[in-house]
Amino acid sequence: MRSLTLAVMLLTAGPAVAQDVEAGKLLYGDICAACHGLDATGGGPMTEALTIAPPDLTNLTASNDGTFPIVRVVFQIDGRDPMMAHGGPMPIFGPYLDGAASAVLSAPDSTPILTSPAIADLVAYLQAIQS
Ligand code: HEC
Repeated sequence: MRSLTLAVMLLTAGPAVAQDVEAGKLLYGDICAACHGLDATGGGPMTEALTIAPPDLTNLTASNDGTFPIVRVVFQIDGRDPMMAHGGPMPIFGPYLDGAASAVLSAPDSTPILTSPAIADLVAYLQAIQS
């Protein structure tokens, strides 16, 4: 009986990386689209107020030799990018999206990347819209 309970718990807990593309899409619309555009190709309504144009986020894979630059993307969003840490035109969402840093993504070389579930969802959405 006990092992059955454990099995059910494991099944319902799901994998460590439970990325939700739909949740990421909603979040994107709420907090990213103003700059990067609803279709993520850049040119959102806030673009005119920025000194650096928000980049097209649908060609991240294409412009990185066919590999989604997951480390760069996560670090840009959560503010760990060293350039961004000194203040860039893009706001730092790390503290805002925090929650527990409980989602583990995997870099191409299998290095684990610890981030928040919300950022993991955002990354899943961005991966889904690569052209
Ligand atoms: C206030 C405007 C603004 C908002 C809001 C914003 N960004 Fe950005 N984003 C920028 C700008 C400007 C850059 C380019 C910064 C730079 O390269 O210095 C950028 C760069 C990026 C990059 C790096 C692209 C690359 O080639 O490495 C990613 C990824 C990104 N943003 C994702 C997001 C996501 C996801 C959100 C929502 C959580 C978001 N951005 C919200 C303005 C914004």
